[in-house]
Amino acid sequence: MPKKQKTTKDLLQAPKGMRDFIGDDFYKKQGFYEKAQEIAEYYGFSGIEVPMLEHEEIFSKGVGDNTDIVEKEMYRLKTKGGDKLVMRPEGTAGIMRSYIEHGMGSLPQPIFLYYGGPFFRHERPQKGRYRQLYQFGLEIIGSEKAVLDAITIQTGYQILKETGREITVKINTLGDAEVRKEHLKLLKAFYRKNKKLLSTKDLDRLQTNPLRVLDSKEKLTMELNENAPTFISTLNNESKKHFKLVLEYLDAAHIPYEIDNTLVRGLDYYTHTVFEYVTYDDKGESSLALGGGGRYDGLAKVMGHTKDVPAVGLGIGVDRSIEISKEDSFNPKIRKKPKFYFIQLGYEAKAKAFDIIEILRKKKYAVKHSLAKNKLGLQLKKAEDLKIPYALIFGKKEAIDGTVIVRNMKSRKQETVEISDLSDYLKTLK
Ligand code: HAM
Repeated sequence: MPKKQKTTKDLLQAPKGMRDFIGDDFYKKQGFYEKAQEIAEYYGFSGIEVPMLEHEEIFSKGVGDNTDIVEKEMYRLKTKGGDKLVMRPEGTAGIMRSYIEHGMGSLPQPIFLYYGGPFFRHERPQKGRYRQLYQFGLEIIGSEKAVLDAITIQTGYQILKETGREITVKINTLGDAEVRKEHLKLLKAFYRKNKKLLSTKDLDRLQTNPLRVLDSKEKLTMELNENAPTFISTLNNESKKHFKLVLEYLDAAHIPYEIDNTLVRGLDYYTHTVFEYVTYDDKGESSLALGGGGRYDGLAKVMGHTKDVPAVGLGIGVDRSIEISKEDSFNPKIRKKPKFYFIQLGYEAKAKAFDIIEILRKKKYAVKHSLAKNKLGLQLKKAEDLKIPYALIFGKKEAIDGTVIVRNMKSRKQETVEISDLSDYLKTLK
């Protein structure tokens, strides 16, 4: 069927599932990244930025051909030169590509990296689900130590706690490649035995990606899954040891967690630990995942690297975290609360005000000003509404005398100060 032409009204709307960040939304997002970066830096991570486009194979091999993300949700494009590129649906595969490309394996291991920005998934938009979504991610590449799984979980947990909400970690293990293979056999046998309880969608998944049946949201399948064989019961000694250590470290870090036997996550690259963060509402219902991650020891090889590179990481959903965060959780540092409202009146004052405003900026005073406004009364009202403690009044007379009136907005006391003394005088004000 030919697609209906979009009207001008349609075209003047952001594409479906994508949105503008305006006013508070803009600053909250920025504040979130600032806080997340500060915590990640503290835990030893360094920033990295990789392109938003990658070769299609980075994700089809890395994330997995039969995952929802690759099969249904990728934005693909073909360049004029014929390259097949995709808009990144997630961060891990691109970061691993960068690690391999730049030979980071020859540096002291492991490498701690953080990144952030937009990702693209052609999902059905709904609350908390966007087609252009934002993540903050962590990856620790080059070591299989269990303590690194715990550091990843701890760093993400501390970032999410900044929302002001109680955060819980849901955790599971998929074991190593050997366990996964063995477990897949057990699972397939289990589901085949119970085939009549499965919907057509789950029967399809059984063919293409049986692990995803564990993730099913169908009521009957969810009930069935309560009796499905668990990874924990299939673990070999190595995998058991790894998981036990991770849990011991989480206990030591006082991180509340629940073991969730059906947690498998929607990406193929995971081995051993997988986890997600949720918060509960008053009715005890858990939120959409605020973030998730796990170990991915097999990814580098699957992407074509010659060596195995053990690694662990996570992605935090910035949109969802901001949506559930309490008021004032993420005020960015550049949004300082102004202490002074600079009021200028008339042409002479406006012209001279440029210099004064610049002196105050260099001294790092938080000043609000608007050279486009004229009326004293209106500007004083604005300063009052914004609860700014002092007004600096600069009119024609002051411009000629080289002074500024400093007015305490609460007591209404005023002081006339020479421009050359202004900066020092402001320093004395509380
Ligand atoms: P993911 O679970 O696909 O993992 O995404 C991480 C988080 O991004 C989710 O928990 C959710 O909060 C957010 N998210 C995902 N899709 C959407 C959407 N459509 N709208 C809004 N938020 C969304 C990854 O992407 C892995 N790369 C994480 C990782 C890093 N594993 C190891 N290292």
